[in-house]
Amino acid sequence: MSPHSSQLPLKHMICFLLVVFICSFVFAYQYIEKSNYCLGASNNVPPPFTTSYLVENSGYGNDIIQKLADYAILNEKVSDETENFKKSYHGTGNRFWKAANFDGCCLPNTIIIGAKKAGTRALINFLDMHPEVAVARNEVHFFDREENYSLGLKWYAKRVKPKQGAKALIEKSPFYFIDKETPEKVVAYNSSIRLILLVRDPVNRILSDQTQLYYNSGKTTPNLVQKLYPDNRSDIDQTAKILQPSLYAKYLRRWITVFPRTQIHIVDGDKLTQANPYYEMKLLEKFLRLSSFYSPEKFVVEKTKGFYCPVQPNGTLKCLSSSKGRQHLEFDQKLLNQLKLFFAPLNKDFARLVGQDFSWS
Ligand code: A3P
Repeated sequence: MSPHSSQLPLKHMICFLLVVFICSFVFAYQYIEKSNYCLGASNNVPPPFTTSYLVENSGYGNDIIQKLADYAILNEKVSDETENFKKSYHGTGNRFWKAANFDGCCLPNTIIIGAKKAGTRALINFLDMHPEVAVARNEVHFFDREENYSLGLKWYAKRVKPKQGAKALIEKSPFYFIDKETPEKVVAYNSSIRLILLVRDPVNRILSDQTQLYYNSGKTTPNLVQKLYPDNRSDIDQTAKILQPSLYAKYLRRWITVFPRTQIHIVDGDKLTQANPYYEMKLLEKFLRLSSFYSPEKFVVEKTKGFYCPVQPNGTLKCLSSSKGRQHLEFDQKLLNQLKLFFAPLNKDFARLVGQDFSWS
């Protein structure tokens, strides 16, 4: 007799028990579904099919029965949301979600739309200091990613960390600025929403972007010359991906075709870093119609990196992580000069468009 043959029946037995277990599990789940089991709607449920009945009679523990019940509720919630989505997104001829049709709490009423690498993390943290501001901790990407947009307004509202007394509920997703469909989706969502656009010297923004891509890619991203002058062309490729967020006038024009200019506040990112952020935050306070909160003492320069950081109520500084405000890679001076030349007329155009002067325009 082979040494393995005595293990064979045991293996078969285990397989058999496993199949029986799975079948019973599926059966119990169908039992729950058929009975339309739902917490809070127990009046509709015939008396025997309660959690305690199933615990007593199915042979499964309370935790398993509860999980199955939760699963049934979850399914119900998802299909509710899908129904709402169909109504508002397809059914009525409107392809987009509308905040006015949502009766729950905490939908964003203010968005930092960009630009990438212009200081958006610092800005949302400074805004979060205000007692009347609640923010979404992470980048939300609701309007620019279909997989998030399809999850609906309940999902969107949950991204904001609730704060009692909050008047401005703010999210930041810097890709919105250059995403083609986002302006139309945002105006459909809430045409009186307030938008914040943060800009910095567009050449420095590119250098910052390239530095981040270099480290995030494990130093494998193509260099800036390869990205800006593909196939050894002699002029800058205006469609280069890394260039896009710096084309401030081009993308802002899309936004001001759907929003009044008065609903878009432009923050000068260079002023935000080089001077006490208090000055820019005061302007934002006014734009967002918040009570007076910011004062110069609320920000102190942290000596290692030289950036202003918020002073917390316990007196310590809340600075950003090491990936923000790090040393840029070294770039060829000729390339920098070409970029400056390229941006000179675009910067003038942007300054004219927004009616504001910048140190770099
Ligand atoms: P650098 O890392 O190139 O210096 P974002 O948050 O949009 O990705 O922008 C990152 C940029 O925020 C940083 O770019 C940095 O210059 C800027 N920034 C503005 N205020 C800052 C602060 N208080 N601390 C650190 N970085 C700040």
